[in-house]
Amino acid sequence: MNWINILPKSITTSEDFIRTVQVSGRKLCIVKTGNEFYAVQSKCPHAGAELSNGWCVSGKLVCPYHRHEFDLKTGRGAEGQGNYIDTYPVELREDGLYIGISKPWWKFW
Ligand code: FES
Repeated sequence: MNWINILPKSITTSEDFIRTVQVSGRKLCIVKTGNEFYAVQSKCPHAGAELSNGWCVSGKLVCPYHRHEFDLKTGRGAEGQGNYIDTYPVELREDGLYIGISKPWWKFW
């Protein structure tokens, strides 16, 4: 797994946010809520809305289009939705927020 610094420390101490970042060719949604950070895919699996335009409620990210809800820890959609979003590990270090990106299987060879 590659760990990539995606945000400087100064931003991580700011107020809560939801923003989009580009990492290793992927567009991801980074969420800060309280003292917790999460990284998830940026497109909603329902109809492709940009999840960084959504909002957080009780540990869930709410899509701005049709209000599907996704658990920020597991990525699981709310009951009855039958969908999920990809989640990525994050670590807050001395110099900023890092995200863990797995190497594609074809890069192991
Ligand atoms: S596009 Fe996200 S709920 Fe429909």
